[in-house]
Amino acid sequence: MWWFIAPKTVFGDDAIEHLQNERAERVLLVTDRSLVELGYVEEVKKYLKAERIEVFDEVEPEPSIETALKCSKVAREMDAELIIALGGGSVMDVGKMARILMEVDVDPEVVTPFTDLYQLGFRRKARLISIPTTSGTGADATWAMVLTDNKERRKVLPAHRDAIPDITILDYRFVEKMPQKLVAGTGMDALTHAIEGAVSPWKNDFSDAMCEKAIVLIFEYLEKSYQGDKEARARMHHAATMAGMGFGNSQVGAVHSLGHAFGAYFKVHHGICVGVFLPYVLQFYLNDESSRSTLDYLAKRIGMENGESIVERVLELMANISIPTRVSEIVGENEYFGALDSVCNHAINDACIITSPRCPGFDEVRKLYEYAFYGKKVDF
Ligand SMILES: [Fe+2]
Repeated sequence: MWWFIAPKTVFGDDAIEHLQNERAERVLLVTDRSLVELGYVEEVKKYLKAERIEVFDEVEPEPSIETALKCSKVAREMDAELIIALGGGSVMDVGKMARILMEVDVDPEVVTPFTDLYQLGFRRKARLISIPTTSGTGADATWAMVLTDNKERRKVLPAHRDAIPDITILDYRFVEKMPQKLVAGTGMDALTHAIEGAVSPWKNDFSDAMCEKAIVLIFEYLEKSYQGDKEARARMHHAATMAGMGFGNSQVGAVHSLGHAFGAYFKVHHGICVGVFLPYVLQFYLNDESSRSTLDYLAKRIGMENGESIVERVLELMANISIPTRVSEIVGENEYFGALDSVCNHAINDACIITSPRCPGFDEVRKLYEYAFYGKKVDF
């Protein structure tokens, strides 16, 4: 038995108006301060008919476990009927975890796809709506919640299919003012999701449909969206959620493992972290017969010649949207290699690594980090 799970999706101009149809007396709006300042919280409030609306605006980039716990406490105290996560991946992941923790008193790390949340008392008392304000994480459509354990400088990845929001609202007004750098970083995240989701050993007909279409959209529209084209930005907003629906049901792989471990240690934006490792991990796959055939197959499905053409197109796109193509553009040599053993250990223990078409061992992970630092073509 297999599953394909996706949220109900409302999209298009004025999609936010859907909120008028949601009946809830007590609403918790989860967001971050910059979005309050942009006026987005007020914009959302206009469409709510609740008696009580609380705003939790303390979500930080790469949010900590403590933030999720704090947010769940607010949800529990007000007995929220509806949680709205308005923001990027960090906000949505905190909203997803807060909905679970408001009812279930557990360590977030215990929340895995195999946890019986209902036995622990989870009744889905609050509905969850996401309103993404970036186009990349796909967090509005996925089971996973990426949180940071600040003490150990590592990412934790709780996941459960009941974490998926009930509804996602894709209203373009919330991405129109997105800074160029964020368009590029989150766009690379979406591309990595779509490619990793399409080559995962857990890929299936349903996830393929979403991932393959998302790749086509991203190659066509990311650069234009970066340049400020309005139509392209709307299509990228679709692509990011579609990639989320795709990889959410087939999983990502080694690019995310390397990116998670690197990002948690060096505090670098997630999209940059996965983007910078994407070409190298793809080259690593191409050096193995069976994973090469998966990439060649994917290339044909999206109208490209072979696996190499995907790598070339990815590198070209990265250059055009000012994404670093080697790690040395992001951190210094001494700092990087001084931390590398610890970073490799976290990467090798990252949950995503098992869903790679070619699973790298410790030595290969180390070499991939090394090659990506110097921008060397992967030859192993
Ligand atoms: Fe990601």
